[in-house]
Amino acid sequence: MCGIIGILYKGRHVAKDLVRGLKLLEYRGYDSAGVATINRDELLIEKDKGRIDVLNSKLGFEDMPGRIGVAHTRWATHGAPDKINAHPHTDCDGKIAVVHNGIIDNFNEIKDELIRKGHIFKSLTDTEVIPHLIEEYIKNGYSYRDAVIEAVSRLEGAYALGIISLYDPNLMIGVKQLSPLVVGLSEDGVFIASDINSLSPFTKNVIVLDDGEMVFLRTDGYEIMRISNRQRVDKKPLTIEIGTQFADKEGYVHYMLKEIFEQPVVLNYSIRVQEHYLNLMAELLDRSKEIFIIGAGTSYHAALLGSMILSRIARLTAIPVIASEFVSQYGDVVNVESSVLAISQSGETIDVLKAIEFAKSRAATILGITNTLASTLTRVCRVYIHQQSLPEIGVAATKTFTGQLAVLYRLAMVAGKRRGKLSQREMDEMKVEIAKIPGVVEAVLRNVDPIVKKLAKKYSKTKYFIFLGRGLNYPIALEGRLKMLEITYIPSLAYPAGESKHGPISLVEEGVPVIFVAPPDETRRFIIGNMEEMKARGAKLITIGYSDDSELKELSDEYIPMPMVNTLFSPIPYVIPLQLFAYYTATVLGRDPDKPRNLAKSVTVL
Ligand code: F6R
Repeated sequence: MCGIIGILYKGRHVAKDLVRGLKLLEYRGYDSAGVATINRDELLIEKDKGRIDVLNSKLGFEDMPGRIGVAHTRWATHGAPDKINAHPHTDCDGKIAVVHNGIIDNFNEIKDELIRKGHIFKSLTDTEVIPHLIEEYIKNGYSYRDAVIEAVSRLEGAYALGIISLYDPNLMIGVKQLSPLVVGLSEDGVFIASDINSLSPFTKNVIVLDDGEMVFLRTDGYEIMRISNRQRVDKKPLTIEIGTQFADKEGYVHYMLKEIFEQPVVLNYSIRVQEHYLNLMAELLDRSKEIFIIGAGTSYHAALLGSMILSRIARLTAIPVIASEFVSQYGDVVNVESSVLAISQSGETIDVLKAIEFAKSRAATILGITNTLASTLTRVCRVYIHQQSLPEIGVAATKTFTGQLAVLYRLAMVAGKRRGKLSQREMDEMKVEIAKIPGVVEAVLRNVDPIVKKLAKKYSKTKYFIFLGRGLNYPIALEGRLKMLEITYIPSLAYPAGESKHGPISLVEEGVPVIFVAPPDETRRFIIGNMEEMKARGAKLITIGYSDDSELKELSDEYIPMPMVNTLFSPIPYVIPLQLFAYYTATVLGRDPDKPRNLAKSVTVL
């Protein structure tokens, strides 16, 4: 959470590009934002509560002069989202500006000590201790550079920092511990940022910092240092191609809608991930005594479905676990013979990284599926697969969810073949079937979009929704529920349809909308029973089912007709109407689906 960026140019002002990069980081938090630049021996700061675009018009971020600057977009942890708590933060003399992503665990202790020494704090943030601590070391005779090193050596917790100062206006400092930070280098100057994507308009040459490293950047070069031993670290830049074209809304009102409609294209990429890596991963899974498959939020839903697919196609048992629960639920049995397959779009979710760190300490094999190259996840995995869904900006995961599923299907197929559970002929047939899925998704988008739009209008005033599915489509019901509640704020439940009579049915009364995910597979006849139970109690049945299924149609109050699809792969097309339903309901209610309240796309706090 929180996004930071810093730029130091040789010959031009940085503010315009700071804002451009900051907007690409807005997915990390958007309750307040700020910019600091240095111009003619003056440290200029503009910041407030609100979205970047609004603040830019109000405060003129882009017009701030200076060849060096740092900027921040915030997801509040310590202190309410307001002007005072917005970053950058400064020392008493206003000579040092710091932007920070993460949490300083020992800030209270440092703050008390600094207050005793006379420092005046303006905000309630943990971050503000950093510029004051640097200032304190300078007062005690340290050079600016040494003062920063001493100060960061005292910090505990998670932090990516960007620091500029009047003490040395041609130096930008970056620090990385647990929160992500990358360095960019170009002919025009040098950069630091929370992710590579935000640097894509400026440079392809990046260095990914590791935990415990700091970087000193000047226009003529950089120096990376390990904080613990103060030794120089030799790191050369990598060239990473990231298209900027997908960072634009391309005529769509919201990123979320654009990303939903992008699925036919990007699914083709995910289905075709390199077989070599799938094979390596399948081999490691096959060798493991126990397999855990972990994720958070939407990625956990992918993990749940992944576990079912691995069982069905490859006859492998993989226990699905919510990442934040992993250590307490299964920590005691993790050992050298275990594998942990982590699914994380961002590759930076702290719950996932903590689970992996633990598993690694027990010598387990770490595997990953992610959408973010050079993310922390990619660097701790023995094998990882880049799902290639291209950057996702909308906070609610859509195309990256179906991309995760596509990779998991391919992995299960390769594992099934390796383990002799699938013949070559069966594998070839499955490949043909999965290759049809992007086309099916395209047809779904074309056909159901107007239907779902109308349904959203009709049901947007409901008090709550209930989502039910069975088997492979139970995770799809969960995902439909998550999309709905996170962007519309309408309380919603999701259950395996069979479980609904063990409690949730008590919520059903006249007019309560119950959404059934009901493809024509082996679960259909049981689903019909569950639909009857709900209907008998006055529920409005909204069913997603095969277009020619007249029995289901008749039973339902609303019907979302789906094309014929191989039912093994039905979860991918069947989630599409649910993504659209949540999206249109949010827009009917006047919510911003791209930036739901209290959420951030990359959750880097525990
Ligand atoms: C929901 C959503 C979140 C993420 C979760 C995990 O729409 O986006 O629930 O799925 O925060 O994020 P990653 O996949 O980056 O680990």
